[in-house]
Amino acid sequence: MSNATAVKQETAVPGKVPMDELVALCKRRGFIFQASEIYDGINGFWDYGPLGTALKNNLRDRWWQDMVIAPPIGPDGRPVQIVGVDSAIIQNPRAWEASGHVDTFSDPMVDCKKTKLRYRQDHLVAVIDERNNQIFAFYEGSLEDTPVLKKLKKMAGTDELSKLKTAPFTEIDVSAYTNVIGPDSDEKGTLTEPRQFNLMFESHAGPIKDEKNKVYLRPETAQGIFLNYKNIVDNMRVRVPFGIAQIGKAFRNEVTPRNFIFRSREFEQMEMEWFCHPDEAQKWRDFWVEARMDWWKSVGVSGDHLQLRDHDKDELSHYAKDGVGTVDIEYKFPFTWPGFGELEGIAHRCDYDLKQHEKHSGKKLEYFDDITKERYIPHVIEPASGLTRGVMTLLAEAYTPDETRPSKMFMKFKPSMAPIKAAILPLTNKDGLPDIAEKLYMAVRGKFMTQLDTKGNIGKRYARNDEIGTPFCITVDNDTLNDQTVTIRDRDTMTQERVALDKVAEYVSKAIED
Ligand code: GAP
Repeated sequence: MSNATAVKQETAVPGKVPMDELVALCKRRGFIFQASEIYDGINGFWDYGPLGTALKNNLRDRWWQDMVIAPPIGPDGRPVQIVGVDSAIIQNPRAWEASGHVDTFSDPMVDCKKTKLRYRQDHLVAVIDERNNQIFAFYEGSLEDTPVLKKLKKMAGTDELSKLKTAPFTEIDVSAYTNVIGPDSDEKGTLTEPRQFNLMFESHAGPIKDEKNKVYLRPETAQGIFLNYKNIVDNMRVRVPFGIAQIGKAFRNEVTPRNFIFRSREFEQMEMEWFCHPDEAQKWRDFWVEARMDWWKSVGVSGDHLQLRDHDKDELSHYAKDGVGTVDIEYKFPFTWPGFGELEGIAHRCDYDLKQHEKHSGKKLEYFDDITKERYIPHVIEPASGLTRGVMTLLAEAYTPDETRPSKMFMKFKPSMAPIKAAILPLTNKDGLPDIAEKLYMAVRGKFMTQLDTKGNIGKRYARNDEIGTPFCITVDNDTLNDQTVTIRDRDTMTQERVALDKVAEYVSKAIED
């Protein structure tokens, strides 16, 4: 138990991104909308607008490029071998029995008998008032909110919250639940004992809705890879060690979808299963941890905001118990600040999945090494990241307050990740400037994502482009008529440079490559 989080700072934390402003910006500028918004939304589901789609596709394409098209150089100085798949979202339900998801993919839930609200036990934090053994349960992170703190002060009858202790709610013995006041309650003893709740969405394949036709939406892309392992080994001339990569949607009926797109019920994953000899698992785990950390930095995430965290023994998943351990790459999200939250996990899945599928399907999934004549089930190292959680990371990382700008902030995406690379802005609607801008647009539009932005005063157009993180604003002005040059404004420094019209494509192409 610690005193550490009983009292959170109520003042703004330097460097921390204001989540409400980021979410409002995402809607206003077409990054992310609430799904079914005109019907008041649906909890845990999000739609990506034009800019969000472009940002997500940039991150996705970069992952595919760096995993499948040009995978990293291995410890022997040669590129490692990784092939891609795109498997079905719905598979034979026996696959989910084999993988352990039917039996064990669940979260511990507590219900409030009074409010009928349901909470994930491991997402609650207990604030303990030892003067009278009263315990208040709150969502982790919610103690950052002034109204929640006010409520706590009122209920505890003191302003001196540092005297209260905090602990993960999982450490509270169920016999003490009679002293607990739930997050939305004002009465003691209304929370039930924790119960397990399976996270897989169910549906039925075919016209008859019975147990026989029950199917699941995949909760991870990984199993689609294991299901294709035999086909790949038999047909694709791969040799251990090799990887199979997949990007796609995954679905989890999360009990408490939270923090914008960080934890949603429909999301996208980028996963790679790396099949290696059991004796080499440790070596490859270390290799992939380093490679993946470098990759997140390469898409513009500052190393200061990333950390590696080894899973504790009691956190390990059912498949990782005997392995060399799971390491998470964590990011300092605005809602975990100054703490970190998971962005990607690099797990040692041992031979768990292949052995389980071998047992349940009755098909041999051994690998035969025709050089050493050894027969074995490979071990698996799995770098598993969230594409949509990666988008959340890039959005938070890009948000840069700047009081000197009309927009008071700008989105400092790495140019290669920015949804729009360049905006072409005729200064006025006179003197043929729009025609020159249109001509320039037609010349560059196939080379990088460009917008022709003709309406509004120039200051407003700069501000809009700052808000969406366009690295370059190209302005056609009256000097262009005389000297065939334009100004190129750099988003980050706001400096302007004159560049010849026929050199614009080259200038921007060079500046956005990395
Ligand atoms: N195949 C292993 C696996 O799925 P995981 O840690 O459960 O492992 C991998 O998920 C990554 O998927 C996480 O690190 C996170 O980035 C992302 N992820 C998991 N659940 C998510 C959710 N509900 N919403 C958004 N992203 C999620």
